[in-house]
Amino acid sequence: MCFLSLARALQLCMTPALALGGPRRLHAVFQAAELPETHRMLRQTCRDFAERELAPAAAQLDKEHRFPAAQVKKMGGLGLLAMDVPEQYNGAGLDCLAYSIAMEEISRGCASTGVIMSVNNSLYLGPILKFGSEEQKQKWIAPFTSGDKIGCFALSEPGNGSDAGAASTVARLDGDEWVLNGTKAWITNAWDASATVVFATTDKSLKHKGISAFLVPMPTAGLSLGKKEDKLGIRASSTANLIFEDCRIPKGNLLGQPGMGFKIAMQALDAGRIGIASQALGIAQAALDCAVDYAEKRMAFGSPITKLQAVQFKLADMAVALEGARLLTWRAAMLKDNGKPFTKEAAMAKLAASEAATAISHQAIQILGGMGYVTEMPAERHYRDARITEIYEGTSEIQRLVIAGQLLKAYRS
Ligand SMILES: Cc1cc2nc3c(=O)[nH]c(=O)nc-3n(C[C@H](O)[C@H](O)[C@H](O)COP(=O)(O)OP(=O)(O)OC[C@H]3O[C@@H](n4cnc5c(N)ncnc54)[C@H](O)[C@@H]3O)c2cc1C
Ligand SMILES: *[C@@H]1O[C@H](CO)[C@@H](O)[C@H](O)[C@H]1NC(C)=O
Ligand SMILES: *[C@@H]1O[C@H](CO)[C@@H](O)[C@H](O)[C@H]1NC(C)=O
Ligand SMILES: *[C@@H]1O[C@H](CO)[C@@H](O)[C@H](O)[C@H]1NC(C)=O
Repeated sequence: MCFLSLARALQLCMTPALALGGPRRLHAVFQAAELPETHRMLRQTCRDFAERELAPAAAQLDKEHRFPAAQVKKMGGLGLLAMDVPEQYNGAGLDCLAYSIAMEEISRGCASTGVIMSVNNSLYLGPILKFGSEEQKQKWIAPFTSGDKIGCFALSEPGNGSDAGAASTVARLDGDEWVLNGTKAWITNAWDASATVVFATTDKSLKHKGISAFLVPMPTAGLSLGKKEDKLGIRASSTANLIFEDCRIPKGNLLGQPGMGFKIAMQALDAGRIGIASQALGIAQAALDCAVDYAEKRMAFGSPITKLQAVQFKLADMAVALEGARLLTWRAAMLKDNGKPFTKEAAMAKLAASEAATAISHQAIQILGGMGYVTEMPAERHYRDARITEIYEGTSEIQRLVIAGQLLKAYRS
């Protein structure tokens, strides 16, 4: 089924309380302690796609560091790469809860594909939708509809990641053009993207308030790619430096106002963290599934190892960590959908889900014993893939800083 039409059908059959949003909606979901019918349908569609197209290919893509081009193209056709983009720009027009659910299911099949999806949605499209002019939306969102093009987000630099406000890439206005100079590091999708949102300083004296955001087509003169990083996990997604050397772009490619770049980046990351939390949930769920399935079949001392309480306790703890993180993630998504502040909740979701994914995939390997340690089984890949969720879009330490900052701000006000 075409996902875009599915998305439309989902909107039509939403009950008014659900479609209207607002606090009533939060209530409706938690009272039912279950997802709305609409979102359950979406979950099933994504789960079927992931089981059919992603899970069987994931190990090979990981081994060969190969971009899942065919799968990404199909996901584009299903609307999964532009989920909250309104239909007028050829997006699926769905909400953040739907995005979280889809991200989890896709990442459960293949975590690399999950991050490719999250960058196009949260980090590339998010800022353009929120801060772009109508003309920019037409140019940088709508024509990308073939499903061949994806975007990237270039904030980090070799010398400053967590401290993004210290970025040193510069942009200088020269007549009708901006001239960009500097190096961006660790850019997901770099080798496969057709455009990037890039952050550069237009007024150094203002520090982070002098950073601006720009839209840059790829490839373009003056922009070159660094080597593909050889990563521990999510190896089917490309990660590389973007090197700007007197790279000229039209004046109209400034996104928002000069000096708004840092704010644009932070807002994109708030939403992005819900996506990464969801990616972590998918990895964790896959690891737990793998452990349960193996433990039921594996015999030791005359019975399946699921008869051993030591194994049962591990499985119980894994399930609790996963469910807790999922509730935090859904709550952050629903707050966003209801137009409420969600910075703290998104950071909590990302912190809890990423640490749960690391812990759960660690225990999954333990439950599989020797088979956990070899590539014949997916447990070792889940363990490698999980690790990045504690690093990108703000390390776990940075999430704790964000959470404590919000907590203390509320206390002091
Ligand atoms: C695979 C991958 C994909 C990525 N994709 C992208 C992308 O698409 N776009 C993009 O812009 N970036 C991307 N990144 C970059 C990523 O966001 C950064 O690596 C991350 O923010 C950490 O920055 P850093 O590596 O410079 O580490 P550093 O900032 O040098 O941090 C090193 C250590 O110090 C700790 N630390 C730093 N400051 C503090 C503090 N104030 N308090 C406590 N602890 C602190 C950190 O938590 C960490 O443990 C990606 C990274 C990887 C590995
Ligand atoms: C990425 O998002 C754009 C903008 O909506 C969309 O047109 C494009 O098809 C997406 N990429 C893919 C591969 O689907
Ligand atoms: C940020 O990193 C760049 C190198 O990527 C470095 O030249 C610059 O000095 C750093 N900025 C600060 C304020 O440390
Ligand atoms: C960019 O760097 C080049 C050298 O690599 C230098 O000649 C040029 O003046 C710089 N441009 C700006 C805008 O800083």
